[in-house]
Amino acid sequence: MEDQAERLREIVRQRAALGASAGGFGFPGGSSVAVTAPVENSRQAGTGRNHRIREGKARIITVTSGKGGVGKTNLSVNLALAYARLGKKVVVMDADLGLANVNVILDVIPKYNLYHVIRKQKSMKDILVETDYGISIVPGASGFSQIANMNDDERQNFINELETLSVADIIIIDTSAGVSSNVMDFIAAADDAVIVTTPEPTAITDAYGIIKIIATEYETPNMGLKLVVNRVKSVAEAKKVADRMTNIAGQFLNLKVDYLGFVYDDAVVSHAVLRQRPFMVIDPKCKASLCVRHIVDRMEKSDRGSSGGFGAMLNRLFGKKN
Ligand SMILES: Nc1ncnc2c1ncn2[C@@H]1O[C@H](COP(=O)(O)OP(=O)(O)OP(=O)(O)O)[C@@H](O)[C@H]1O
Ligand SMILES: [Mg+2]
Repeated sequence: MEDQAERLREIVRQRAALGASAGGFGFPGGSSVAVTAPVENSRQAGTGRNHRIREGKARIITVTSGKGGVGKTNLSVNLALAYARLGKKVVVMDADLGLANVNVILDVIPKYNLYHVIRKQKSMKDILVETDYGISIVPGASGFSQIANMNDDERQNFINELETLSVADIIIIDTSAGVSSNVMDFIAAADDAVIVTTPEPTAITDAYGIIKIIATEYETPNMGLKLVVNRVKSVAEAKKVADRMTNIAGQFLNLKVDYLGFVYDDAVVSHAVLRQRPFMVIDPKCKASLCVRHIVDRMEKSDRGSSGGFGAMLNRLFGKKN
């Protein structure tokens, strides 16, 4: 086992060093989209031009939280839309191991997901869903729980397939809540780890728990740690929560957490969820939409972290197995 793991690490190192060529995707707005239709209300991304992978080109943003239900999935999807408005090619990866939510709030029923990629039945471009909103999604829920069970051949193939996503400008990874090792793997892959909390004391405590674990796992984290306070009633309320969290992280954990912004508690959000459409689409000028646009502006201006991308994530997985 030791030898096999070392060999796989070597493959990841080599690929990271050399880059790799792979088939690209036709992104929404791109010039070469061959359309097939294995999903409802959306189009399958087809084979596009061949892109040369530029390692680390895509900015990988992981959206996570301590407590569940604080708004990660809504933030992930609407952040993606706000980025798409800026002309970026955006992919949202659903890495929630429990419930697949990204496709639900977009009213998409994917035919395939990462499970099929892991089992080598489909390629990444086969499962990538091009939505009607100018963003693509990688359906993943039932796939990620299979990562640990991959054999040598499947892992190698999976690395290649994940790398093909690097042709995007932005990859947003929507994780499940909590501090499971899988969530930590996605944080390891991220350039930016966006931690979402609400003003509720339980959400704040659990968000702090995540930050503490990051501090424990990484002596000097490479990823930029960012905080978003969701469902606030006022700017002052958001600032109070953010100040408290950033101060505690700095004082007790010696970690810099950037306050990225807040999202108002807005009835349009739950209305949008019920209608299975992003709130940015339902009402681009509602309070929540304006907040998300502001967050993207801040994100664009902020320092970008520099984690190892998917290679880092897979290295951690290989490391853990043995
Ligand atoms: N800014 C907001 N204003 C009003 N309601 C909101 C807001 N953000 C989230 N909600 C409500 O919270 C619900 C849960 O949001 P969401 O599914 O995005 O959370 P999550 O963190 O992804 O949950 P999980 O941990 O289960 O994956 C939404 O369906 C919506 O009703
Ligand atoms: Mg969710």
